[in-house]
Amino acid sequence: MLQSLAQVEKMWELSELNYRNKQHPDDFPELPEIPAERFTREDFFQLEKEHVWKRTWLLAGIACELPSPGSFKAVSINDAPVLLARGEDGKIRAFYNTCQHRGSMLAKGEGTAQHFACSYHCWTYDLEGNLKFIPDERLFPNLDKSRKSLKPIRCELFGALIFINFDGDASPLAEFLGSILGVLQDMPLDNIKLYKKLQFEVPYNWKIVQENFSEAYHTKFIHPTSLEPFIQTKARAGHLLANGHAALAIKSRGSLTNLWASDVDDKEGVLNELTRKSQRNCNIFPNITLSPAENIFPVLVAWPISIQRTRLDVYFLTMPSSDQVASEPGYEATVAGLEVVLGEDFSALEGIQEAISSGGIEAVRLGWEEQIIYHHHQQIDRLIGSENIPAGLAVQDITLPVGV
Ligand code: FES
Ligand SMILES: [Fe+2]
Repeated sequence: MLQSLAQVEKMWELSELNYRNKQHPDDFPELPEIPAERFTREDFFQLEKEHVWKRTWLLAGIACELPSPGSFKAVSINDAPVLLARGEDGKIRAFYNTCQHRGSMLAKGEGTAQHFACSYHCWTYDLEGNLKFIPDERLFPNLDKSRKSLKPIRCELFGALIFINFDGDASPLAEFLGSILGVLQDMPLDNIKLYKKLQFEVPYNWKIVQENFSEAYHTKFIHPTSLEPFIQTKARAGHLLANGHAALAIKSRGSLTNLWASDVDDKEGVLNELTRKSQRNCNIFPNITLSPAENIFPVLVAWPISIQRTRLDVYFLTMPSSDQVASEPGYEATVAGLEVVLGEDFSALEGIQEAISSGGIEAVRLGWEEQIIYHHHQQIDRLIGSENIPAGLAVQDITLPVGV
């Protein structure tokens, strides 16, 4: 497992040996090329909307954004208005943010409410989504209010991370996350708090954004001063995990004090030892990148706006023990550090959508260190179903060494 330091150190050794010997790990299959049109074809984007975004678990928010009964937050996910609300019982639920009278959007923004009253004709729902009040109810003979509750959306928590799934028949979140639960088992995710949230909008396909956060091959070139001095990209330990997830640990050069792990020296902290020896990174399918670190850590979420536009949400989350060991300037240093890194990524990616759309590239060729990208595409195709993918757009189905 990737949280065992001994195993990771062995993988680092092997990775460094391969680097020195200029060789490719011989037990790893060559990665077939990926059709470039997967990033540019509207029909493929629509297939992703239908089969990926409507059928997988998606991060909708952090529990501390809904601190008490009545707290709510309206969000838009895959073009659907979604209402997250904490009920009187303390439970967080998700609903379609759609009034059951004539479909008006019910709640806007975020805040605290005792109930949700539709602004159109004032049909009113409680925090659990039950329809409680209809003005002039005599006008609706035989209407059974219990059959007009807000339409629920599957909602489950992983620690304080709120996930939703539009597919009522989806398997439970824990089953979907699978090995990710083990990889992150040292993180006290129940009590994390949101320190800051940033949003960026970039003019390229969402997969380009997500995949940028799943390889360190570009670090030397794009991040020569912001990242490269802190990590040894030659020493790479990675696992592809079932359901399209992946975990990576890149050996650090000494302490990561100047990067995510602000104000922490080698001895402090609550996370496993690996955290102080490496840059840890988890890609949770389809669009989350979580980098475990002491005190404050980023969670990046790439949301498609259109085939060629993506919104990147960056949550900076703090650990329960953070207040004892980190200070606000430390948090701000982490935020500023990641902003620099992202700025470098964004400038490298400038114009990429036009470049790919021009027909100037037929297929994307990935190297061994970019294997997580191939794994990501394979999972997308598995969800869409090969029978639904237009000719020439599928990735080849190969067997990659998926860990537990
Ligand atoms: S649409 Fe909501 S009360 Fe009429
Ligand atoms: Fe980068």
